[in-house]
Amino acid sequence: MASRRSAVFAFAAGILAAVLPGAARAQGNLTVYCSVQEEWCRPMMAAFERATGVRVAMTRKSSGETLTQIRAEASNPRGDVWWGGTGDPHMQAGQENLTEEYRSPRLPELQPWAVRQAEQANFRTVGIYAGALGYSYNTRELERRRITAPRCWSDLAKPEFRGEVQVADPNTSGTAYTMLATLVQVMGEEPAFTYLRALHRNVNQYTRSGAAPARAAATGETLVGITFLHDAVTQKIAGAPVNIVAPCEGTGYEIGSMSIIRGARNMENARRFYDWALSPEAQAIAGTANSFQLPSNRASPIPPQAPRFEDVRLIDYDFARWGSAEERTRLLTRWEREVRAGAR
Ligand code: F6P
Repeated sequence: MASRRSAVFAFAAGILAAVLPGAARAQGNLTVYCSVQEEWCRPMMAAFERATGVRVAMTRKSSGETLTQIRAEASNPRGDVWWGGTGDPHMQAGQENLTEEYRSPRLPELQPWAVRQAEQANFRTVGIYAGALGYSYNTRELERRRITAPRCWSDLAKPEFRGEVQVADPNTSGTAYTMLATLVQVMGEEPAFTYLRALHRNVNQYTRSGAAPARAAATGETLVGITFLHDAVTQKIAGAPVNIVAPCEGTGYEIGSMSIIRGARNMENARRFYDWALSPEAQAIAGTANSFQLPSNRASPIPPQAPRFEDVRLIDYDFARWGSAEERTRLLTRWEREVRAGAR
């Protein structure tokens, strides 16, 4: 009798296996909050599903917005992994005990800057890519307006750029926060805020997402878009009439990061995703999705179009300081009060 019953079970399991797609059987679920471009989020999740059979639910939001969401959900976490987005809010999330400590066995494969990011966050986050900050301008619009090509941060605050500059809001966007913290490090805090108030008069819109101004510069909707250089490269490669500038005074950079959310419901799959996302195969997906950051695994291919750090005057960005809850909150509050609230 018992053997007949197990034969029936085996038969039923066989039918189920035939009906369910590939490895998708009984591997469970994973919820990922993704803070890179949607065009990269999607193939990344699909590749993980194919590799493991885990079913992924993905939501795309900017870095600052994701931190706000994870904080709001802290007593009842809905996400498992936060993948991508600038490192500062990941560092803050770690400090606020919103993310889990995890040491991936792949850590020894990573670039020193990615490991340093993990160490400085007590292993509550890790670097997955890096990219420098700058801006792009529409060459046709520049010519039409007969404005001299900008080369520096200081150029963007000049009167001829009134209403011509677009950048994201540092509360929602990690890119814009990187700009805020970069200017403070390049110029010193008081001169940086004087500069930001002057720049404010030239800003036509503070967008939610960091990469949006690169798209707006590409179409000529704005003359200048402040973004990471790699986001401007995406537009240039697509044929947009833009020039890309690494500002002459020096500039900052991001260490795009990944964290496991504290109390994740699918903890095992979260770790599985984390380890997989650090592999050269997973990181190679970026280039195929027109995302040209520098990957963190030393064996990952660097897309030939990726802007190289050697070609940029890079500052020694202090991620521990500017990613700390105290400094990040302080800078954002000051920006809101002294810059955003100001007249244009
Ligand atoms: O995906 C493009 C990108 O610039 C990433 O390199 C970066 O981490 C992220 O967007 C930042 O997005 P946001 O400024 O919208 O938080």
